Amino acid sequence: MSSQPPLGFHSLREEVTGELPVEGRIPDWLSGSLVRNGPGAFELGDEAVDHWFDGLAMLHQFTFDDGVTYRNRFLRTEAYEAARDGEFDGGFATGETTLRERLKAFVLDDPYDNANVIAERIGDRYLALTETPRWVEFDPATLETRGHVQYDGSEPAGRLACAHMNRDPATGEMVNFETAFGRSSEYHVYSMASPTERDHVGSVAVDEPAYMHSFALTPNYVVLTEFPFVVDPMDFLRPGKQGPFVDNYEWRPERGTRFLVLERDTGELVAQPRTEPFFGFHHANAFEDDDDLVIDLETVPDAASIDHLYLDALRAGDLDAFGGRLERFRVHLGTADAAVDRRTIYDGTALPTVSPARWCREHRYVYAQGTDQPVTEWPRSVTKIDTVSGSARTFAAAGDHFSEPIFVPRPDGTAEDDGVVLTVALDDDAGRSVLVVLDGDSFSELARAPLPHAVPFDFHGRFFAELA
Ligand SMILES: [Fe+2]
Repeated sequence: MSSQPPLGFHSLREEVTGELPVEGRIPDWLSGSLVRNGPGAFELGDEAVDHWFDGLAMLHQFTFDDGVTYRNRFLRTEAYEAARDGEFDGGFATGETTLRERLKAFVLDDPYDNANVIAERIGDRYLALTETPRWVEFDPATLETRGHVQYDGSEPAGRLACAHMNRDPATGEMVNFETAFGRSSEYHVYSMASPTERDHVGSVAVDEPAYMHSFALTPNYVVLTEFPFVVDPMDFLRPGKQGPFVDNYEWRPERGTRFLVLERDTGELVAQPRTEPFFGFHHANAFEDDDDLVIDLETVPDAASIDHLYLDALRAGDLDAFGGRLERFRVHLGTADAAVDRRTIYDGTALPTVSPARWCREHRYVYAQGTDQPVTEWPRSVTKIDTVSGSARTFAAAGDHFSEPIFVPRPDGTAEDDGVVLTVALDDDAGRSVLVVLDGDSFSELARAPLPHAVPFDFHGRFFAELA
């Protein structure tokens, strides 16, 4: 790439630690760390990746403790070392080598370790995650990489892991699923108290596994939303095929979308209603309402959005894609066929989140990046959506583009939106990013803290109150 890529799709190479200047007032009760994860660089050495999802993992930590301390660091992964040595061979959607080699690299022998999706705490360990079951542990005080963590016990496991685990706040368990490919493929659902111990919840046999980036959890159920974007596992494993990992998935709208409902207690598949075909990356939250399961999910019409996230297109400003639509699905478990209702809550969202105090229980508010519909530009606002009234508050000052908003509840608050929303804005003219603290109720600005550099567009953050 000879010309300078636009900010957001640039490569950030510096790693810094320091106190940020704060304008405005951060509430005294806010204590802990926001850890965000995403691609930090798309080129390193002589190698470049093709797809936004394949940028090299970088953690950004904002610690609130009498001011704000910021640090950022690349994960020192095999992917990072290979890129530095000019040998990076891609991952999700980058690369031209044979599919068999791609699969070996991504899911078979030494799973891809460019864990750039999110950071989670499992037990007392902090891990960066991607879509392989090979997690990367980091030191939450320094962001230094500690090494790989991979389950090797006797419970059923798969080769493709979901990056978006769900925590059950009532039990503290982390629940996740993995996909095992083979002559008989299966989704294996499990729960964890620590990264190396797992309990099998249940498994579902499947002819053609789907690509599912997240799933839904309620106190009694795990729901896998099986979009009709599927792979033939035997074709997938055949020698000689060319191309990136994700190119093996096919859009098969005639299959519709199936909600696989597993009972957590028994592991039984208690319902599997089918509805219209659609695709999505992110579930916002799910809960039980008498005999209904209520699932808030961001949808797009089909899986074409993956193709819109190749860097060449993004850097050229060619973002001719559908933004997400926040939809509410209601699965009537009490009816014979577990009928599904669907309604739009809000059109024009990306990366929806809810208060962590509402995970697995009824929520009213969803926070998200605000997008045009269809999307012509990277999200230029953040929104607070009221799922009851359908109204939304928007914040768009402080920068040109905004990251996923993260709600942090006030420890002794009772109202759902009593707390703050943290987002990182990118200011194009100033050439740097700005941490923004919004009031959870009014969605107005409380404080901002400019960073010493511009952060490339990232994926997900988690707030860890214990990291102060
Ligand atoms: Fe995600």
